[in-house]
Amino acid sequence: MRQVNVGIVGLGNVGTGTVTILVENEEQITAKLGFRLCVKAVCSLDADTKVLPPQLGDVFRTLDWREVVTHPDVDVVTELVGGTTVARQIIEGAIANHKSVVTANKELMALAGAEIWEKAIAAGINLAMEASVAGGIPIHAVLREGISGDRIVALYGILNGTTNYILTAMEERGESFEAVLSEAQRLGYAEANPSADVDGWDARSKLGILSALAFGEKITPEDIYTEGIRRIAQIDFQYAHRLGHTIRLLASARQTPDGVILSVRPALIPRQTILASVRGSYNAVWVRGKYGEDTFYYGRGAGSRPTGVAVVSDLMRVAREIRSGSPERVSPFAHERLGEYTPIPVTRQKRAYYLRFRVTDRPGIIAALAGILAEKHISLEAVLQVPCDTKNDLPFVITVEPTSEEAVREAVDRMSGLDFLLEPPLALPVEPGV
Ligand SMILES: NC(=O)c1ccc[n+]([C@@H]2O[C@H](COP(=O)([O-])OP(=O)(O)OC[C@H]3O[C@@H](n4cnc5c(N)ncnc54)[C@H](OP(=O)(O)O)[C@@H]3O)[C@@H](O)[C@H]2O)c1
Repeated sequence: MRQVNVGIVGLGNVGTGTVTILVENEEQITAKLGFRLCVKAVCSLDADTKVLPPQLGDVFRTLDWREVVTHPDVDVVTELVGGTTVARQIIEGAIANHKSVVTANKELMALAGAEIWEKAIAAGINLAMEASVAGGIPIHAVLREGISGDRIVALYGILNGTTNYILTAMEERGESFEAVLSEAQRLGYAEANPSADVDGWDARSKLGILSALAFGEKITPEDIYTEGIRRIAQIDFQYAHRLGHTIRLLASARQTPDGVILSVRPALIPRQTILASVRGSYNAVWVRGKYGEDTFYYGRGAGSRPTGVAVVSDLMRVAREIRSGSPERVSPFAHERLGEYTPIPVTRQKRAYYLRFRVTDRPGIIAALAGILAEKHISLEAVLQVPCDTKNDLPFVITVEPTSEEAVREAVDRMSGLDFLLEPPLALPVEPGV
């Protein structure tokens, strides 16, 4: 059978991992497919000088992505540039030239995936994006194929390896957020500007894609309440442990009778649950189906080779589909449109909450805080204080029984004006047994 030809735009982390796997594993890939997957063209800003594996031979090199998307011999364009501007032009350029597309771009697919898929379907080409969420975990294949017969009711994920590395290092070594972040930056696990990771934006893009796949709804990034981990302090782990919990940046999408509640935020999760055991830079996704109940997926969320495997596997699937003449017919972003999964604000969720305060110690503090909680009809569950000598910066925790997030936010707003508080209270939801 005739070989399928690939053009690769972007030769950074993922691009070089992809090229390495394609050449090193060529024999197996050919045996599995029954035909060759051949790299015909590569492009990056330094493609003319880039050192590439010699097995690639005299592959066409260019600095201009247009020469890849219009290359007459290229069947599939692999977009591994990232971002939402040039990457979009590359993908749309490939579609306009009737080339299939493989991408690892979470940011673009979260922002404009639905529109891009519509164009791909109209053009009768294939589009694949496995590597865009949770790098080496084949979660797209799971949602689109493995458990597609089920009806998803909830999805919980640890979708950002950098924040999980930081939180587990704080937990295990008792170090501060700042110390672990600068270590992660030194080791190359965190970017010089860590905002996309630590403020939750990266996980938000990934959750947007996963929940679109899981619920068949068009979900925009704005539908997802997002809060990062900057305010988590080492002391929070001590309190969380006392409560039998730990803290993770949890991406969650849950169906309620009124619609789907989506959030990326630090949350307390019980220590005995499987998600709590996800440590370091690993990612995990837990899916709950109406019929099949719970399934769990775990692996490397990033990295040149794990992500490269996802890209190469997508290339193999797309190549098979090209050879069998079977383009996508239904967009994974909006296959149901039944309206039952409409996103609703997180303020409508009911949860127990963990409220952590830093105060200048003096009499009447608990009474003042309890008074505000009572005003908002919130039932106090427990007050915890680990021994501490610093009376002018005293941390303690109040846990409250399940209540609406709206009530908790109103209470926190009211409390923020109290003069004994050194900073606004930190409010974290306590997730039941995910
Ligand atoms: N890194 C991961 O582990 C990971 C995991 C999952 C998904 N992803 C996604 O994969 C994509 C690529 O990430 P990455 O980490 O590989 O990025 P990267 O290391 O920054 O690589 C980007 C590549 O794109 C090239 N490039 C930039 N602008 C270009 C342009 N206008 N024309 C042609 N080439 C251009 C760069 O060229 P030069 O090298 O010449 O500058 C570089 O080769 C992103 O969407 C990212 O979100 C990454």
